[in-house]
Amino acid sequence: MSKLVVKGRKPLKGEVQVGGSKNSSVAIVPAALLGDGPSTLENLPRIDDVRVFAQILRDLGADVRMDGATMTVAPDGLSSHIAPYDLVRKLRASYYLMGVLLAKFGRAEVGLPGGCDIGPRPVDQHLKGFRALGVEVSMEGGVVKLVAPRGLRGAAIYLDIPSVGATINIMLAATRADGTTIIENAAKEPHVVDLANFLNAIGGRVLGAGTDVVRIRGVRKMSGTCHAVIPDDMEAATYMMAAVATGGDISVMNVITKHLEPVTAKLREAGAKVEENGDYIRVIGPSRPKALNVKTLPYPGFPTDAQQPLVVVLSLADGVSVVQESVYENRLGFVSELVKMGARIKVEGKTAIVEGVKRLVGAPVKANDLRAGAALVLAGLSAHGTTDVYGLEIINRGYEIVEQKLCALGADVKVVD
Ligand code: EPZ
Repeated sequence: MSKLVVKGRKPLKGEVQVGGSKNSSVAIVPAALLGDGPSTLENLPRIDDVRVFAQILRDLGADVRMDGATMTVAPDGLSSHIAPYDLVRKLRASYYLMGVLLAKFGRAEVGLPGGCDIGPRPVDQHLKGFRALGVEVSMEGGVVKLVAPRGLRGAAIYLDIPSVGATINIMLAATRADGTTIIENAAKEPHVVDLANFLNAIGGRVLGAGTDVVRIRGVRKMSGTCHAVIPDDMEAATYMMAAVATGGDISVMNVITKHLEPVTAKLREAGAKVEENGDYIRVIGPSRPKALNVKTLPYPGFPTDAQQPLVVVLSLADGVSVVQESVYENRLGFVSELVKMGARIKVEGKTAIVEGVKRLVGAPVKANDLRAGAALVLAGLSAHGTTDVYGLEIINRGYEIVEQKLCALGADVKVVD
């Protein structure tokens, strides 16, 4: 296991270029298989999740080439409806192959990635949507087997929860269904809209993405296109929090400020100076953050993916903060690692009571999930002394070239295998 060795107490200053959205990329890369012609995807983040997905598409028979942040996908060689289990289990979002392969072949076999450290990650809403489209679902040895004996038929689906994954997976399958599908109580995250824009660019008919009612009219034919994925709002949020946690001054470049409004609002509440300038946001951290209360909610509420970095900021705040995690069962698990660094946090169920301290002290800590890893790096950057953050592989899943980007901001970090 490799680690990031972080020497703290350096206010981060300068500019950081935000990469393409991980959560948009893991939906649009498989969606490129829906077209009958090749697609070029640009501004993809250089992260392991994208590299693994490229390999999965190759194993399914597509021709996939990558050059930096650009990927070309030629789906005409696509020949299998069975996703390669050894790769699928490495990548949570591989479940989007269910919707894509159903649309292409009317059947799919996809292994279920297990739960992870932030919760059980069920897919019951995805399967509810597929059944409504006329799909028969069975499970054998951890593999979900889906078949639409009479083809996919448009349907009205009311999601029990505004699940991002279920909204996206149903959209993917519905593109080639016979008739119109209506998803109600749909997720409104920016990457749902980005996917809808991609699907429409390849000939799909998706209306209402970004609202809680999405209509998809099935089409017979889809082509290829050239599409640049949106910037990663969660990577941007992480660097914005780094400016506040270290009392620094960071300009986060290449963002869509609208997508970051909930984060901007909270950081202003914490006493940061946040300037929204078109396609970049400048964050100047206060000498000490102010305490505040926050509850994570589906978009446009405060994002659950920014909760862990915010807890690090609040662990240094002047006062007591209450953080309620309402999206995942166990997204506060990383607090035990933060306590090793001197944070004073009490977790009761899905609520953390954070009593701010004047200083954190470096310690060896372990990242168990992607955003927890990012949060622990932020803690190390603000702490006195050195912090060894183990589990760099997990961080690399979702954050591109972390070491380089942090060093460019003046951080003293280095990777040790
Ligand atoms: C997506 O996960 C993101 N992942 C997550 O980001 C993000 O935290 C989450 O949306 C919420 O914004 C990707 O886009 C690849 P959900 P997803 O379906 O689709 C429950 C990161 O760090 N649920 O909206 O899994 C589920 O257990 C990752 O980038 C069901 O009960 O999110 C969770 O408690 C972490 N049944 C809640 O809903 C279902 O069928 C939200 O899940 C589906 C979900």
